[in-house]
Amino acid sequence: MKIIVQVCVIFAIVAIAYSASTSWGIQNATDSLILSKNVVYPAIRNTAQTHYFSIPQSYQSNNKLISAIYLQDQFINGSGPTNSLIWGGPGWTYATIQMRTQSNSGLNVTVVVYGK
Ligand SMILES: *[C@@H]1O[C@H](CO)[C@@H](O)[C@H](O)[C@H]1NC(C)=O
Ligand SMILES: *[C@@H]1O[C@H](CO)[C@@H](O)[C@H](O)[C@H]1NC(C)=O
Ligand SMILES: *[C@@H]1O[C@H](CO)[C@@H](O)[C@H](O)[C@H]1NC(C)=O
Repeated sequence: MKIIVQVCVIFAIVAIAYSASTSWGIQNATDSLILSKNVVYPAIRNTAQTHYFSIPQSYQSNNKLISAIYLQDQFINGSGPTNSLIWGGPGWTYATIQMRTQSNSGLNVTVVVYGK
């Protein structure tokens, strides 16, 4: 019983840690900006939404190796999405990020990607 409670606490902490702004990789001073984009989805009542963001974007190409991806949560009240890198990322020329919102919350996230 005690273990179950501890596991729940760990999951709760992980969830909180990931709901804020997220980053993957390290930006080097010589890296250039690949893209910077504000992603906004309105809230849907009683629904947690799942959205995907891919690099490169549709109808665009990218031949730079990604070095860092920053997701800046523009909701400063802790209701931002849970972000996961599900494909590619630093070291690759492509990436897909999954953003899962909290129920009743939309999202407003700025995605900034650097590469070389
Ligand atoms: C940044 O990139 C340059 C060129 O690729 C490399 O020489 C340098 O060591 C890198 N610096 C860091 C802190 O990774
Ligand atoms: C998203 O966040 C930015 C930066 O805080 C703000 O300027 C913009 O109005 C927000 N967009 C929406 C739809 O809330
Ligand atoms: C958090 O802030 C956003 C943008 O200002 C707003 O849409 C949302 O309702 C807020 N959520 C809570 C739980 O206050």
